[in-house]
Amino acid sequence: MATTVATATRATENKTQTEENSQNGGQQTGHQEIGHKSLLKSDALYQYILETSVYPREPECLKELREITAKHPWNLMTTSADEGQFLGMLLKLINAKNTMEIGVFTGYSLLATALALPDDGKILAMDINRENYELGLPLIQKAGVAHKIDFREGPALPVLDELMKDESKHGSFDFIFVDADKDNYLNYHQRIIDLVKVGGVIGYDNTLWNGAVVLPPDAPMRKYIRYYRDFVIELNKELAADPRIEICQLPVGDGITLCRRVK
Ligand SMILES: C[S@@+](CC[C@H](N)C(=O)[O-])C[C@H]1O[C@@H](n2cnc3c(N)ncnc32)[C@H](O)[C@@H]1O
Repeated sequence: MATTVATATRATENKTQTEENSQNGGQQTGHQEIGHKSLLKSDALYQYILETSVYPREPECLKELREITAKHPWNLMTTSADEGQFLGMLLKLINAKNTMEIGVFTGYSLLATALALPDDGKILAMDINRENYELGLPLIQKAGVAHKIDFREGPALPVLDELMKDESKHGSFDFIFVDADKDNYLNYHQRIIDLVKVGGVIGYDNTLWNGAVVLPPDAPMRKYIRYYRDFVIELNKELAADPRIEICQLPVGDGITLCRRVK
């Protein structure tokens, strides 16, 4: 019975793919591959997710922050609302209390994190740019969660080096979100793998890098996409080979790789 259902399902899937291919001018898509289950096939589907499940549940303070950030000339850098929702859910599921964020910008992921933590939760947040953080700060204050945030202006690496010198900080973080300079991700990894606790989670953002990870090197790309592409590809390989972590790459936002420290 199960086989019959599976065969029928495959037949339906094949039919859908044939229809899809004919719409694609006969081109083969990734959806042809056995076991491929990605559902997100269009911008309309993404919009559907936002409008059905994300925006109606987005706290007012995050909505306001998203709207302010949209007017910023670098608005492309912000964490998307669906990723913010995902982070909030994840933090609650793992009962995170002591967290770190590298790369704050105007603070969308920071506020999503602060809202998800208990009242005595903590976020060590780092960014080289205080001005952008201060743009979102009034909303963080209005939401009543500013007391959870310890913002440090400046490059993250020296702060991590300081933390590494303090034995009591090793294994002390429940969750670390990395969303800053991609060329330093491996340097961050070398340090934060010791700072996150065993059983804790690191989230590396932008690990699909606008899809550029699968483009041939000579494909046309924006300058910054091309510059960071190889660093992201290298990171993905290193994470997949690192025995200290379990990993899960999710196509949320620009790709987020969750790493659960196991030793
Ligand atoms: C993609 S944005 C972060 C987005 C943010 N998570 C959000 O929710 O909007 C990257 C941020 O990393 C910061 N950054 C770049 N290099 C850095 C460094 N070496 N140390 C700390 N922050 C850095 C940038 O100033 C920028 O605000």
